[in-house]
Amino acid sequence: GLSVAAVLAPRPPTTGALLTSEVPLPMPFQVPLPLPPVLRPTEQASGVDRYELIQRETTAEILPGIATRVWTYDGIFPGPTIESRRGRTARVRHRNELPVPTAVHLHGGRTPPESDGYPTDLVLPSEWTDPHQDGHTGGPHGSHVHDPRAVVTRLTREYTFPLDQRAAMLWYHDHRMDYTGPAMWRGLAGMHIVRDDVEDGLDLPHGDHELPLMITDRAFDAAGQLAYPSLDPTLRDRPGVAEPYLAGVLGDVILVNGAPWPTHDADTGSYRLRLLNASNARHYDLQAVAEDGRTLPLIQIGADQGLLARPVNHTSLPIAPAERYDVVLDFAGLPIGSTVRILNRLGTGTTAHIMQFRIVRSAPASTPVPERLATDLPTWHRSEASVTRDLAFGVGRMGDRHGWLIDGRAFDPARTDVTIRLGDIEIWRLVADVHHPIHLHLVGFTVLSRGGHQPLPHDAGLKDTISLRPGESAEIITRFDGYRGRYLFHCHNAEHEDMGMMANLEIV
Ligand code: C2O
Ligand code: CU
Repeated sequence: GLSVAAVLAPRPPTTGALLTSEVPLPMPFQVPLPLPPVLRPTEQASGVDRYELIQRETTAEILPGIATRVWTYDGIFPGPTIESRRGRTARVRHRNELPVPTAVHLHGGRTPPESDGYPTDLVLPSEWTDPHQDGHTGGPHGSHVHDPRAVVTRLTREYTFPLDQRAAMLWYHDHRMDYTGPAMWRGLAGMHIVRDDVEDGLDLPHGDHELPLMITDRAFDAAGQLAYPSLDPTLRDRPGVAEPYLAGVLGDVILVNGAPWPTHDADTGSYRLRLLNASNARHYDLQAVAEDGRTLPLIQIGADQGLLARPVNHTSLPIAPAERYDVVLDFAGLPIGSTVRILNRLGTGTTAHIMQFRIVRSAPASTPVPERLATDLPTWHRSEASVTRDLAFGVGRMGDRHGWLIDGRAFDPARTDVTIRLGDIEIWRLVADVHHPIHLHLVGFTVLSRGGHQPLPHDAGLKDTISLRPGESAEIITRFDGYRGRYLFHCHNAEHEDMGMMANLEIV
């Protein structure tokens, strides 16, 4: 791997291209919060739930009065929410009616490799002719350099998700090589909630007091369409940068479940917020502020991969692309008619607001969050690790182009980067030049250290994505079990991923 000094040498901007919308934007907190419908199985048999989803283009009224073209799962953005019981297999058949090939990945799923949505394992549309019609990002490959042995194409595709894993909120999204950023930006993302008996045994807010919240940023061009640059204008003409590349696409409109800065009517009870940052590149630092100026505690009960052992209280909670936090927010004692705003401490102007709750009725006091939550968390110890790896995430040159690289290399589907023995426990030491949210497929991990110190409070629990800050290192530990085969790890800044910051791990 690269040394820390080498990876830190070039200091590209930590932010990406901030796009400014060219249509009038609504006032915040006017649009009601939508909740994506729960997808009904087409068939339920012994241990298996079958689903069908059609990927298609449609228009959506995201901004009031404006019709915006979106790419969707089943005609809506976000896609329908899938709810599964731990251990029941979900078989999801996707039909692609979009103008481009796609690949569906269940983020956080313990999925066999053939259903993991490998970036060259495509669902082809029936009328696909031109590979360059859909806004190529100018990735480090410069063209479609696919390993022909790796390309599998079908017109429909059934993905099998055994979901033999802890209750958690997973999400599904597009993962096609070089095009994940533009495809997610256009709308290809949905939530998938796994439930189990451990969770049922705890008296957590549920029903209409449990809200899945997918946070994304977007920008709209003068015609009201989603703006997406093919290259990052902020990186043009920089000394030492021979050609523009993408540092990350940021919009000035914050959407929750597809609605701009929505508002939701609540009672004085407790709410379980299943937070997901499905933005391409934007980080948030979330804070709940009551109308009297008081900051309400965000009581974290779960991480990416399910419940914590004990709740952790936060006054604000940083959330990087692809991360999930499960938090309880209690409105007890707030006056009827008052509001609570979810703010983004990293935002300015329009991006400082996320959404609002309006307290409209009283409710009996909620039961407090249990002191003990999950008892089924894995406890891997340093001494059990058979391998320690160093992996450096940073910008670099790829031939005559810039790219986002792992250990100096851009993604190549034909190359195995890391070979792991099935069942082994490994420690990975990760180091980043700028913000990189690093995600591993298949496994959940725990954070051993961050910046050479103890993990931060929000690192608690079982994670599948860790947000590295500029210049920061971290150690994570996990056991690679479940399946043999080829999986990925990558940066979940979608533009970094498309520009090469992804690698293959092979479990043998
Ligand atoms: Cu959210 Cu490789 O994925
Ligand atoms: Cu990155």
